[in-house]
Amino acid sequence: MENDLQAIVAQAEACQAEVSSRSDWDQAKAAILGPKGTLTQASKLIGTLPREEKPAFGQALNKAKKQVEALFAMTLSNIEEKADLLALGQAYDPTLPAIPHRSGSLHPLTATRRKVVSTFRKLGFTVAEATEAETEWFCFDALNTPADHPARDEQDTLFFKPDSKWANVSKKGNEAHLLRTHTSSVQIRTMMCEKPPLRVIAPGRCFRRDTVDATHSANFHQLEGLCIDRNVTLLDLKGTLDYFLKETFGSKVQTRLRPSFFPFTEPSFEVDLKAPNLGKLSNKWIEIMGCGLVDPEVLNLVGLAENEWSGFAFGVGIERITMILHGIDDIRHFYQNDQRFLSQFTGPA
Ligand code: DAH
Repeated sequence: MENDLQAIVAQAEACQAEVSSRSDWDQAKAAILGPKGTLTQASKLIGTLPREEKPAFGQALNKAKKQVEALFAMTLSNIEEKADLLALGQAYDPTLPAIPHRSGSLHPLTATRRKVVSTFRKLGFTVAEATEAETEWFCFDALNTPADHPARDEQDTLFFKPDSKWANVSKKGNEAHLLRTHTSSVQIRTMMCEKPPLRVIAPGRCFRRDTVDATHSANFHQLEGLCIDRNVTLLDLKGTLDYFLKETFGSKVQTRLRPSFFPFTEPSFEVDLKAPNLGKLSNKWIEIMGCGLVDPEVLNLVGLAENEWSGFAFGVGIERITMILHGIDDIRHFYQNDQRFLSQFTGPA
Protein backbone atom coordinates (compact mmCIF):
# COMPACT_ATOMS: atom_id res chain seq x y z
CA MET A 1 0.00 0.00 0.00
CA GLU A 2 2.68 2.47 0.96
CA ASN A 3 4.40 1.57 -2.29
CA ASP A 4 1.23 2.72 -4.02
CA LEU A 5 1.52 6.09 -2.28
CA GLN A 6 5.14 6.46 -3.38
CA ALA A 7 4.07 5.68 -6.93
CA ILE A 8 1.46 8.45 -6.71
CA VAL A 9 4.11 10.98 -5.51
CA ALA A 10 6.32 9.87 -8.41
CA GLN A 11 3.35 10.36 -10.75
CA ALA A 12 2.89 13.89 -9.39
CA GLU A 13 6.60 14.63 -9.91
CA ALA A 14 6.55 13.31 -13.46
CA CYS A 15 3.59 15.36 -14.53
CA GLN A 16 5.09 18.67 -13.30
CA ALA A 17 7.55 18.52 -16.19
CA GLU A 18 4.74 18.20 -18.71
CA VAL A 19 2.50 20.90 -17.29
CA SER A 20 3.01 24.26 -19.03
CA SER A 21 -0.34 26.02 -18.77
CA ARG A 22 -2.88 26.68 -16.12
CA SER A 23 -5.41 24.30 -17.74
CA ASP A 24 -2.81 21.45 -17.99
CA TRP A 25 -2.08 22.09 -14.35
CA ASP A 26 -5.77 21.91 -13.35
CA GLN A 27 -6.11 18.63 -15.17
CA ALA A 28 -2.98 17.09 -13.73
CA LYS A 29 -3.98 18.15 -10.24
CA ALA A 30 -7.48 16.74 -10.60
CA ALA A 31 -5.99 13.42 -11.77
CA ILE A 32 -4.26 13.04 -8.40
CA LEU A 33 -6.06 15.23 -5.83
CA GLY A 34 -9.51 15.55 -7.39
CA PRO A 35 -12.50 13.44 -6.17
CA LYS A 36 -11.60 10.69 -8.59
CA GLY A 37 -7.86 11.30 -8.37
CA THR A 38 -5.39 8.57 -7.56
CA LEU A 39 -4.53 9.92 -4.11
CA THR A 40 -8.16 10.45 -3.14
CA GLN A 41 -8.94 6.88 -4.20
CA ALA A 42 -5.95 5.52 -2.30
CA SER A 43 -7.06 7.33 0.87
CA LYS A 44 -10.36 5.50 0.75
CA LEU A 45 -8.52 2.21 1.23
CA ILE A 46 -7.93 3.11 4.86
CA GLY A 47 -11.41 1.84 5.64
CA THR A 48 -10.52 -1.63 4.40
CA LEU A 49 -7.42 -2.01 6.56
CA PRO A 50 -7.15 -3.87 9.84
CA ARG A 51 -7.24 -1.52 12.86
CA GLU A 52 -3.54 -1.80 13.72
CA GLU A 53 -2.39 -0.80 10.22
CA LYS A 54 -4.56 2.28 10.03
CA PRO A 55 -2.33 4.80 11.93
CA ALA A 56 0.80 4.06 9.89
CA PHE A 57 -1.13 4.25 6.63
CA GLY A 58 -2.81 7.47 7.76
CA GLN A 59 0.61 9.05 8.43
CA ALA A 60 2.02 7.91 5.08
CA LEU A 61 -1.08 9.28 3.39
CA ASN A 62 -0.66 12.73 4.99
CA LYS A 63 3.00 12.88 4.04
CA ALA A 64 2.26 11.93 0.43
CA LYS A 65 -0.51 14.53 0.26
CA LYS A 66 1.80 17.29 1.53
CA GLN A 67 4.48 16.38 -0.99
CA VAL A 68 2.01 16.33 -3.86
CA GLU A 69 0.46 19.68 -2.84
CA ALA A 70 3.90 21.31 -2.53
CA LEU A 71 4.82 20.12 -6.03
CA PHE A 72 1.63 21.53 -7.50
CA ALA A 73 2.04 24.85 -5.68
CA MET A 74 5.60 25.26 -6.99
CA THR A 75 4.58 24.42 -10.56
CA LEU A 76 1.70 26.89 -10.44
CA SER A 77 3.93 29.74 -9.30
CA ASN A 78 6.38 28.96 -12.14
CA ILE A 79 3.54 29.00 -14.67
CA GLU A 80 2.27 32.35 -13.33
CA GLU A 81 5.70 33.93 -13.36
CA LYS A 82 6.23 32.96 -16.98
CA ALA A 83 2.79 34.33 -17.89
CA ASP A 84 3.66 37.65 -16.18
CA LEU A 85 6.93 37.93 -18.05
CA LEU A 86 5.23 37.16 -21.33
CA ALA A 87 2.60 39.80 -20.62
CA LEU A 88 5.42 42.29 -20.06
CA GLY A 89 7.06 41.19 -23.30
CA GLN A 90 10.12 40.09 -21.36
CA ALA A 91 10.22 36.34 -21.72
CA TYR A 92 13.69 35.40 -20.60
CA ASP A 93 15.91 34.75 -23.56
CA PRO A 94 19.50 33.98 -22.53
CA THR A 95 20.78 34.62 -26.06
CA LEU A 96 19.81 38.31 -26.04
CA PRO A 97 22.55 40.88 -25.39
CA ALA A 98 22.64 42.21 -21.84
CA ILE A 99 20.78 45.41 -20.94
CA PRO A 100 23.43 48.15 -21.22
CA HIS A 101 24.86 49.35 -17.91
CA ARG A 102 23.94 53.02 -17.47
CA SER A 103 26.56 54.80 -15.46
CA GLY A 104 25.79 58.22 -14.03
CA SER A 105 27.69 61.41 -14.77
CA LEU A 106 28.60 64.43 -12.71
CA HIS A 107 26.16 67.32 -12.49
CA PRO A 108 27.55 70.06 -14.77
CA LEU A 109 27.94 72.43 -11.80
CA THR A 110 29.90 69.79 -9.87
CA ALA A 111 32.10 69.15 -12.91
CA THR A 112 32.84 72.90 -13.26
CA ARG A 113 33.56 73.30 -9.54
CA ARG A 114 35.96 70.37 -9.52
CA LYS A 115 37.79 71.58 -12.62
CA VAL A 116 38.19 75.12 -11.25
CA VAL A 117 39.28 73.85 -7.82
CA SER A 118 41.91 71.63 -9.41
CA THR A 119 43.19 74.56 -11.49
CA PHE A 120 43.71 76.69 -8.38
CA ARG A 121 45.25 73.81 -6.46
CA LYS A 122 47.99 73.76 -9.09
CA LEU A 123 48.75 77.38 -8.11
CA GLY A 124 49.00 76.48 -4.42
CA PHE A 125 45.51 77.53 -3.31
CA THR A 126 43.77 75.42 -0.68
CA VAL A 127 40.01 75.07 -0.22
CA ALA A 128 38.28 76.96 2.61
CA GLU A 129 34.71 76.36 3.67
CA ALA A 130 32.38 78.21 6.02
CA THR A 131 28.75 78.25 6.99
CA GLU A 132 25.95 79.24 4.62
CA ALA A 133 24.10 80.95 7.48
CA GLU A 134 26.06 84.08 8.36
CA THR A 135 25.92 87.15 10.51
CA GLU A 136 25.70 90.60 8.95
CA TRP A 137 29.16 91.40 10.22
CA PHE A 138 30.93 88.65 8.23
CA CYS A 139 28.77 89.13 5.15
CA PHE A 140 28.85 92.94 5.01
CA ASP A 141 30.47 95.03 7.78
CA ALA A 142 33.83 93.28 7.74
CA LEU A 143 33.81 93.55 3.95
CA ASN A 144 33.61 97.32 4.29
CA THR A 145 30.01 97.32 3.08
CA PRO A 146 28.13 100.13 4.84
CA ALA A 147 24.76 99.75 6.53
CA ASP A 148 22.98 101.66 3.74
CA HIS A 149 24.40 99.50 0.91
CA PRO A 150 21.61 98.10 -1.32
CA ALA A 151 22.87 94.50 -0.90
CA ARG A 152 21.82 94.72 2.74
CA ASP A 153 18.26 95.56 1.83
CA GLU A 154 15.43 93.22 2.84
CA GLN A 155 14.57 93.04 -0.86
CA ASP A 156 17.95 91.53 -1.76
CA THR A 157 18.87 89.34 1.18
CA LEU A 158 17.23 86.45 2.99
CA PHE A 159 17.30 87.46 6.66
CA PHE A 160 16.27 85.14 9.48
CA LYS A 161 13.23 86.21 11.45
CA PRO A 162 14.42 87.94 14.64
CA ASP A 163 12.58 85.35 16.75
CA SER A 164 13.90 82.23 14.95
CA LYS A 165 16.24 80.05 17.02
CA TRP A 166 19.15 80.71 14.62
CA ALA A 167 18.88 84.43 15.11
CA ASN A 168 20.17 84.02 18.66
CA VAL A 169 23.30 82.07 17.73
CA SER A 170 25.70 84.96 17.56
CA LYS A 171 29.03 85.87 19.04
CA LYS A 172 27.96 89.46 19.43
CA GLY A 173 24.47 88.73 20.59
CA ASN A 174 22.42 91.24 18.65
CA GLU A 175 23.41 90.88 15.00
CA ALA A 176 20.99 90.05 12.22
CA HIS A 177 21.40 86.60 10.69
CA LEU A 178 21.04 85.82 7.04
CA LEU A 179 21.80 83.32 4.30
CA ARG A 180 25.09 84.48 2.80
CA THR A 181 24.64 86.56 -0.34
CA HIS A 182 28.16 85.79 -1.58
CA THR A 183 31.15 83.64 -0.68
CA SER A 184 33.18 86.77 0.16
CA SER A 185 32.32 86.20 3.83
CA VAL A 186 34.75 83.25 3.72
CA GLN A 187 37.57 85.74 3.06
CA ILE A 188 36.89 87.26 6.46
CA ARG A 189 36.58 83.94 8.28
CA THR A 190 39.83 82.73 6.72
CA MET A 191 41.80 85.88 7.57
CA MET A 192 40.56 85.68 11.15
CA CYS A 193 41.56 82.09 11.76
CA GLU A 194 44.65 81.58 9.60
CA LYS A 195 47.91 83.48 9.60
CA PRO A 196 49.13 85.03 6.34
CA PRO A 197 50.67 84.41 3.89
CA LEU A 198 47.63 82.54 2.63
CA ARG A 199 46.05 81.50 -0.62
CA VAL A 200 42.53 80.07 -0.49
CA ILE A 201 39.56 79.45 -2.70
CA ALA A 202 36.07 79.02 -1.29
CA PRO A 203 33.48 77.35 -3.50
CA GLY A 204 29.98 77.39 -2.09
CA ARG A 205 26.29 78.07 -2.17
CA CYS A 206 24.86 81.59 -1.97
CA PHE A 207 21.35 82.96 -1.56
CA ARG A 208 19.58 86.09 -2.72
CA ARG A 209 16.05 87.27 -2.69
CA ASP A 210 15.88 87.03 -6.48
CA THR A 211 12.79 86.26 -8.51
CA VAL A 212 13.67 83.19 -10.52
CA ASP A 213 14.04 83.70 -14.28
CA ALA A 214 16.43 82.58 -17.04
CA THR A 215 19.42 84.32 -15.45
CA HIS A 216 18.46 84.58 -11.75
CA SER A 217 18.10 81.97 -9.07
CA ALA A 218 17.52 82.54 -5.36
CA ASN A 219 20.15 79.87 -4.75
CA PHE A 220 23.34 79.70 -6.80
CA HIS A 221 27.06 78.96 -6.45
CA GLN A 222 30.18 81.08 -6.37
CA LEU A 223 33.86 80.51 -6.02
CA GLU A 224 35.80 83.05 -4.01
CA GLY A 225 39.55 83.53 -4.11
CA LEU A 226 41.86 85.29 -1.69
CA CYS A 227 45.61 85.71 -1.61
CA ILE A 228 47.29 87.58 1.25
CA ASP A 229 51.03 88.06 1.20
CA ARG A 230 53.69 90.74 1.22
CA ASN A 231 53.87 93.07 -1.80
CA VAL A 232 50.98 91.58 -3.75
CA THR A 233 50.37 93.53 -6.96
CA LEU A 234 47.84 93.74 -9.75
CA LEU A 235 50.26 91.71 -11.85
CA ASP A 236 49.84 88.78 -9.45
CA LEU A 237 46.07 89.07 -9.76
CA LYS A 238 46.06 89.34 -13.55
CA GLY A 239 48.53 86.46 -13.96
CA THR A 240 46.49 84.20 -11.67
CA LEU A 241 43.19 84.97 -13.40
CA ASP A 242 44.69 84.59 -16.89
CA TYR A 243 45.93 81.13 -15.96
CA PHE A 244 42.55 80.16 -14.49
CA LEU A 245 40.58 81.45 -17.49
CA LYS A 246 42.89 79.76 -20.02
CA GLU A 247 42.61 76.44 -18.16
CA THR A 248 38.82 76.80 -18.10
CA PHE A 249 37.95 78.28 -21.50
CA GLY A 250 40.95 77.23 -23.62
CA SER A 251 44.37 78.61 -24.44
CA LYS A 252 43.05 81.10 -27.02
CA VAL A 253 41.13 83.12 -24.44
CA GLN A 254 41.87 86.86 -24.16
CA THR A 255 41.12 88.74 -20.94
CA ARG A 256 40.81 92.34 -19.84
CA LEU A 257 40.25 94.14 -16.54
CA ARG A 258 37.60 96.86 -16.59
CA PRO A 259 37.50 99.35 -13.70
CA SER A 260 34.55 98.77 -11.39
CA PHE A 261 33.61 99.07 -7.73
CA PHE A 262 33.34 96.62 -4.84
CA PRO A 263 33.40 97.87 -1.26
CA PHE A 264 36.05 95.35 -0.19
CA THR A 265 38.60 95.82 -3.00
CA GLU A 266 40.51 98.91 -4.09
CA PRO A 267 41.03 99.16 -7.00
CA SER A 268 38.21 96.91 -8.22
CA PHE A 269 37.62 95.38 -11.66
CA GLU A 270 35.23 93.36 -13.72
CA VAL A 271 37.02 90.72 -15.78
CA ASP A 272 35.92 90.24 -19.40
CA LEU A 273 36.96 87.42 -21.67
CA LYS A 274 36.86 86.74 -25.40
CA ALA A 275 37.40 83.33 -26.99
CA PRO A 276 36.86 81.78 -30.43
CA ASN A 277 35.27 78.53 -29.22
CA LEU A 278 32.16 79.64 -27.34
CA GLY A 279 29.38 79.10 -29.87
CA LYS A 280 27.12 82.16 -30.18
CA LEU A 281 29.32 84.01 -27.69
CA SER A 282 32.52 83.46 -29.71
CA ASN A 283 34.80 86.46 -30.22
CA LYS A 284 32.66 88.83 -28.12
CA TRP A 285 33.75 90.40 -24.86
CA ILE A 286 31.77 88.70 -22.06
CA GLU A 287 31.80 89.75 -18.40
CA ILE A 288 32.83 86.80 -16.29
CA MET A 289 33.76 87.86 -12.75
CA GLY A 290 34.73 90.53 -10.21
CA CYS A 291 38.13 91.08 -8.59
CA GLY A 292 40.51 93.59 -7.07
CA LEU A 293 43.21 94.27 -4.53
CA VAL A 294 42.06 93.78 -0.95
CA ASP A 295 41.01 97.15 0.49
CA PRO A 296 43.34 98.12 3.39
CA GLU A 297 40.20 98.87 5.41
CA VAL A 298 39.28 95.15 5.25
CA LEU A 299 42.76 94.24 6.51
CA ASN A 300 42.27 96.66 9.41
CA LEU A 301 38.87 95.19 10.24
CA VAL A 302 40.34 91.68 10.60
CA GLY A 303 43.39 92.91 12.49
CA LEU A 304 46.08 92.56 9.81
CA ALA A 305 48.65 95.35 9.58
CA GLU A 306 48.04 97.16 6.31
CA ASN A 307 51.66 98.25 5.99
CA GLU A 308 52.84 94.65 6.17
CA TRP A 309 50.16 92.71 4.28
CA SER A 310 48.48 93.14 0.93
CA GLY A 311 46.36 90.89 -1.23
CA PHE A 312 44.02 90.23 -4.09
CA ALA A 313 40.53 88.74 -4.15
CA PHE A 314 38.11 87.56 -6.78
CA GLY A 315 34.67 86.01 -7.06
CA VAL A 316 33.13 84.06 -9.92
CA GLY A 317 29.77 82.34 -10.46
CA ILE A 318 29.93 78.58 -11.05
CA GLU A 319 26.65 78.72 -12.97
CA ARG A 320 27.98 81.57 -15.11
CA ILE A 321 31.13 79.66 -16.12
CA THR A 322 29.08 76.57 -16.95
CA MET A 323 26.49 78.47 -18.99
CA ILE A 324 29.17 80.20 -21.07
CA LEU A 325 31.16 76.99 -21.56
CA HIS A 326 28.22 74.91 -22.74
CA GLY A 327 25.97 77.55 -24.32
CA ILE A 328 23.21 77.04 -21.72
CA ASP A 329 20.58 79.75 -22.00
CA ASP A 330 18.53 79.21 -18.84
CA ILE A 331 19.89 78.85 -15.30
CA ARG A 332 16.80 76.85 -14.25
CA HIS A 333 18.02 73.82 -16.23
CA PHE A 334 20.61 73.21 -13.51
CA TYR A 335 18.06 72.62 -10.79
CA GLN A 336 15.29 70.68 -12.52
CA ASN A 337 16.93 67.23 -12.54
CA ASP A 338 15.75 66.55 -16.07
CA GLN A 339 17.65 63.55 -17.43
CA ARG A 340 17.40 64.89 -20.99
CA PHE A 341 19.49 67.88 -19.87
CA LEU A 342 21.80 66.15 -17.40
CA SER A 343 22.70 63.21 -19.63
CA GLN A 344 24.36 65.60 -22.09
CA PHE A 345 27.19 66.18 -19.64
CA THR A 346 29.85 63.63 -18.91
CA GLY A 347 32.10 66.00 -16.95
CA PRO A 348 35.53 64.95 -15.71
CA ALA A 349 35.40 62.56 -12.76
N1 DAH B 1 31.09 89.18 -3.92
C1 DAH B 1 30.91 89.70 -5.25
C2 DAH B 1 29.48 89.40 -5.71
O1 DAH B 1 28.83 88.56 -5.15
C3 DAH B 1 31.88 89.10 -6.20
C4 DAH B 1 33.28 89.56 -5.94
C5 DAH B 1 33.75 90.69 -6.56
C6 DAH B 1 34.11 88.86 -5.09
C7 DAH B 1 35.04 91.14 -6.35
C8 DAH B 1 35.41 89.31 -4.85
C9 DAH B 1 35.84 90.46 -5.51
O2 DAH B 1 36.26 88.70 -4.03
O3 DAH B 1 37.14 90.88 -5.30
O4 DAH B 1 29.03 90.01 -6.65
